[in-house]
Amino acid sequence: MTAWHQLYSMNNQKERRPVSRATLRRIGGFARPHRRKLALFLVLSVVMAGLAVGSPLLAGRVVDAIFNSEPLDVVVVVALAIAGLALAEAGLGLLNRWLSAGLGEDLILDLRTAVFDHVQKMPVAFFMRTRTGALVSRLNNDVIGAQRAFTDTLSGVAGNIVTLALTLIAMIGISWQITLLALLLLPVFVLPARRMGTRIARLRREAADHNAAMGTQMTERFSAPGATLVKLFGRPAHESAEFARRARRVRDIGVRSAMTQSAFVTALTLVSALALALVYGLGGFYALRDQLAPGALVSMAMLLTRLYAPLTALASARVDVMSAVVSFERVFEVLDLEPLIKEKPGARAVPEGPVSVEFDDVRFAYPSADKVSLASLEEVATLDSRGGVEVLHGVSFRAEPGQMVALVGSSGAGKSTIAQLLPRLYDVDSGAVRLGGVDVRDLTADSLRDTLGMVTQDGHLFHDTIRANLLLARPEASEDDIWDALTRARLATLIESLPDGLDTVVGERGYRLSGGERQRLTIARLLLARPRVVILDEATAALDSTSEAAVQAALGEALEGRTAVVIAHRLSTIRAADLILVIEDGRVVERGTHADLLAAGGRYEELYRTQFDEPTVAAV
Ligand SMILES: Nc1ncnc2c1ncn2[C@@H]1O[C@H](COP(=O)(O)OP(=O)(O)OP(=O)(O)O)[C@@H](O)[C@H]1O
Ligand SMILES: [Mg+2]
Repeated sequence: MTAWHQLYSMNNQKERRPVSRATLRRIGGFARPHRRKLALFLVLSVVMAGLAVGSPLLAGRVVDAIFNSEPLDVVVVVALAIAGLALAEAGLGLLNRWLSAGLGEDLILDLRTAVFDHVQKMPVAFFMRTRTGALVSRLNNDVIGAQRAFTDTLSGVAGNIVTLALTLIAMIGISWQITLLALLLLPVFVLPARRMGTRIARLRREAADHNAAMGTQMTERFSAPGATLVKLFGRPAHESAEFARRARRVRDIGVRSAMTQSAFVTALTLVSALALALVYGLGGFYALRDQLAPGALVSMAMLLTRLYAPLTALASARVDVMSAVVSFERVFEVLDLEPLIKEKPGARAVPEGPVSVEFDDVRFAYPSADKVSLASLEEVATLDSRGGVEVLHGVSFRAEPGQMVALVGSSGAGKSTIAQLLPRLYDVDSGAVRLGGVDVRDLTADSLRDTLGMVTQDGHLFHDTIRANLLLARPEASEDDIWDALTRARLATLIESLPDGLDTVVGERGYRLSGGERQRLTIARLLLARPRVVILDEATAALDSTSEAAVQAALGEALEGRTAVVIAHRLSTIRAADLILVIEDGRVVERGTHADLLAAGGRYEELYRTQFDEPTVAAV
């Protein structure tokens, strides 16, 4: 209830907010690198606008030549001039379009790459909270929305202002009285145009939100795990109804904004037709009294039709500008998210050689939603008050270079959390995590990545070939390196038996690897990367004994000669560890070697007994 309230009022605030100067300046910033193209484009637009005023004047000249019985040559020359103008206009029009299309696509490119780069810098916490669909919609719909209005508006505004000015000058030159009268109808345009602009912008913003929500629903429900969940437990009818509700709203908005726009255009057309009647009436009256040449009347009428066209365009340019700004704002909103975890200026590389791992009185709470994400990107943020609760309460330990430290303890004790602090997926709140004696916050992201290798509980594979998934860890690895890693991970035989071998596509929609195979593939990836420090977060899923033996052997290879932090659910894995820590409720409650801890007869001994009395139950 309150969440809805907050969301609702937030949307409302956004609607009322006027287009800010800062936003405009920022849009200008995106245009700056293309200023030469932009200048050429504007100059061309102005020239074209000038040409547009030429032909009505020339047409009037022809009429006058007829009335004054001038020689045929004059008419022919003027007609040729009109043809020349038309040709020039067509040629320049194409050139202009080429420029504006180029500018628009450049803008899309710049915005897209900026958003992608920025989002990639966001910490893991951001992706845990943010709905992928909403994010993708920012990258697609909004970026394109920004571009469309940007180019359409630019060409429109620049050219039309000039056309308007030149046309007015020409008209006043012919008859200021008629011009004045024709312009009296002008306010009828401008006033509703402002209203209409705001209204259409509001409709478009709402449609964008609904589109993003539908995108989210689709990406979430149509992923293999999501679809499975809906089939097993979900309410498909409810899902469909929800989707249809949104889709219908988008349809209604589409119809409404189309009608709003066309009502407006129709009104404008009508007003300009009325003004035309006025020109013919009044101009005819003057012409009959010989106070106006017939040619001037023709020029005047033609100019008038050209006057209202740019007016219409300028009036709807407002709408375009508004919706462009909306799109830009939605994109900027993402760009403005400050990544919580950033490389320090002057960060250093991890010291050479074998490195130690040290946790020094580490306290940590998962960041709360408002710190890591945008409410508009996640929808349910305000419902989730978790986060901010301390999960680790002063954890200290040290693994000397080449040593293996093992973490055991109940589910939810904080083991994975400890593991995630080492590669800086999160930063500690107090205390320090050190690698080779250096605080990880003082290290460069690249060297951290090169030094650490992590196998997580739910090792993810990209939807790509086995080869590509492995090469992610070390792009320059040779074919031999790959097979070597696979052999050591006890996976070579399986992959050789696949018809496509290394080119078999795995991941979300690819070949299904079993839990154990998947785990060994992530271990192979680790072996290929040859990190100096290994972090293993063992999967909880119980494997059959052959699989388990294979994983065990692969793990043994991975740990050989490296500093390691191993989270083990199967205690057999860690009997050889140099130091075993028992973690409960975010604290180290026991520490020592396997033998020490068994002898001490505490929590570890209890865990160990449970596991070996009931070997089929996955130990926690
Ligand atoms: N992204 C997150 N945001 C907020 N709280 C989290 C997040 N991830 C984990 N927690 C909480 O932190 C605590 C420790 O979780 P952690 O994943 O470290 O446990 P674990 O010891 O690895 O458990 P398991 O053995 O089941 O893997 C739990 O209470 C969990 O609910
Ligand atoms: Mg865990």
